[in-house]
Amino acid sequence: MNLSSAIHRKIFHIVSISAQKIKQDSYVIGGYVRDYLLGKIKFKDLDILTIGEGIRLAKEVSKYITPDPKIRIFKRFGTAMLEYENQKIEFVGSRKESYHFYSRKPIIEFGSLKDDQNRRDFTINALAISLNRNNYGELIDPFGGLLDLKQKILRTPLDANITYSDDPLRMMRAIRFATQLKFVIEKYSFQSIKKNKNRINIVSSERIIDEFNKILLSEKPSLGLFLLYKSGLLSIILPELVLLKGIKEKNGYKHKDNFYHTLQVVDNISKEKNNSLWLRWVALLHDIGKTHTKKFLPKIGWSFHAHELVGSNMIPNIFQRLKLPKGSYMRYVKKIIQHSYRPITLIGNHTKDSAIRRLLFDIGDDLEDLMKLCIADITTNNIEKKNKYKKNIYLLMERIRKLEERDRIQNWKSPISGNDIMNTFHINPCKKIGIIKDFVKDSILEGKISNDFHSAYFLMLKKGEELGLKKK
Ligand code: CTP
Repeated sequence: MNLSSAIHRKIFHIVSISAQKIKQDSYVIGGYVRDYLLGKIKFKDLDILTIGEGIRLAKEVSKYITPDPKIRIFKRFGTAMLEYENQKIEFVGSRKESYHFYSRKPIIEFGSLKDDQNRRDFTINALAISLNRNNYGELIDPFGGLLDLKQKILRTPLDANITYSDDPLRMMRAIRFATQLKFVIEKYSFQSIKKNKNRINIVSSERIIDEFNKILLSEKPSLGLFLLYKSGLLSIILPELVLLKGIKEKNGYKHKDNFYHTLQVVDNISKEKNNSLWLRWVALLHDIGKTHTKKFLPKIGWSFHAHELVGSNMIPNIFQRLKLPKGSYMRYVKKIIQHSYRPITLIGNHTKDSAIRRLLFDIGDDLEDLMKLCIADITTNNIEKKNKYKKNIYLLMERIRKLEERDRIQNWKSPISGNDIMNTFHINPCKKIGIIKDFVKDSILEGKISNDFHSAYFLMLKKGEELGLKKK
């Protein structure tokens, strides 16, 4: 099969001429070829494989490019990278790899094109297109990768046990590609993932999470999350999720399977493409507290009282263990989970404005995402119920909108500052300032005074007096 159309751009001709000049056969390989054949015309990073030294080829290529591109050389790996028209181009010499049992780091030797294709993870990633004069554009497909692409199958070039055991990150990659491309992992290959699952322990958390995040960011993350569960990898990476699995029944009372419910919530939240990775993490972890709060209450049924608090308290440890970022993203996930149940308690005409103001005050800018979670959390199959629950949330959102328009509580800043209090009463920093500020805040949230300077000022004077302070 000739694929000249895949490599008609100038850069391919430059690489071809450079490769001829230094007498090193060269090929485009990996993700670019795969995505081109899948019809994805993504302007993606290019991997150039050369039978010889990658660094030498990169240097030769750079001679044909103006202005002089900066070459990044990775001596240890014998690879080089340069950027051309905003596209990263990586040059790697063909190699043969062997592995130690306890490490993902291979022992590398020079190898042929076939050796190099052998060491790759999947047949669809081992496809190469020749950049050589004698067969320019020819697809080199020793393992039937093209057929696997057509049949949507993920298969390893070598025995799957070798491929996965050599580099266990590939188990995550298999599930990630299966999720992103909606491919099936070939049966023997999946069994081999199950068998080798514990080998994931030699992979760094950062690499695992990199793949995990790609699964979460895909169109339907549940596909990958379910495969992670079935392979046994999820129990190693995120046991908190697996513990949600199962349905208990007692005296005719049943609760839903919180694991499958969670997968559905994650899919629901992912229907909006632009929903962030961190909102997806919120959806993924929003119910993890249920395992520890599950109780059977006679005549009432199953209860998960305060699961959102217990769950949110679990977040820092999970983020630390998985080497997820500790700062604002962690706080965001924790905060939304902590307040995840509150909107439900505010539904109905009897809810006081003050309760809504308190939520607005606590959640601030994350209100929209919290409400998105509440809608995604509706997973009942009963259409009538589903519509009713959704309508309730929309009504609540409308009420919140109107209240916020009037009272401006979201991102609330006290109309009087600590300095105002100190200047009014001529006092130095002390506990009383905090007491007055809290009193003013609570009075505004309770709706006892309006949210403006005058009302706050008079209340401050009153409270100050009560505390024995005198206006100077
Ligand atoms: N590869 C591999 N084993 C890995 C990682 C990568 O065999 N653990 C090989 C595959 O042939 C892959 C190529 O290296 O196609 C390039 O890897 P990478 O850039 O990480 O992935 P892509 O396949 O290009 O796909 P994506 O950009 O979606 O990650």
